[in-house]
Amino acid sequence: MAPVEKDIAESPNPLLEPLTIGKMQLAHRVVMAPLTRCRALSSTPQPAAAKYYSQRATKGGMIISEATVMCPQGYGCEHRRESAAAC
Ligand SMILES: Cc1cc2nc3c(=O)[nH]c(=O)nc-3n(C[C@H](O)[C@H](O)[C@H](O)COP(=O)(O)O)c2cc1C
Repeated sequence: MAPVEKDIAESPNPLLEPLTIGKMQLAHRVVMAPLTRCRALSSTPQPAAAKYYSQRATKGGMIISEATVMCPQGYGCEHRRESAAAC
């Protein structure tokens, strides 16, 4: 291992330090941001959503899921409504 690689490997990584947010105790600070996956049907999450998030879950990690819309206007823009089936 090159000296610089050794320095990096041995340096403390703040992202891997535990963190408490309210009642949640996270094992590390790498948090998945919400992403629009368009896998809900008529605004109802499907089993594919549970599979998607379980594939990305880590012990003590935090995932912020996407929202579902309460009404057609909730998509926020025409493009999302038209392209939702293609995502
Ligand atoms: C409900 C919701 C859905 C989102 N969907 C996406 C998405 O599909 N793609 C994306 O790049 N960011 C999406 N974002 C924004 C990301 O979560 C994130 O804030 C953004 O990518 C900027 O990241 P940064 O704050 O680390 O720079 C979404 C945010 C919310 C609240």
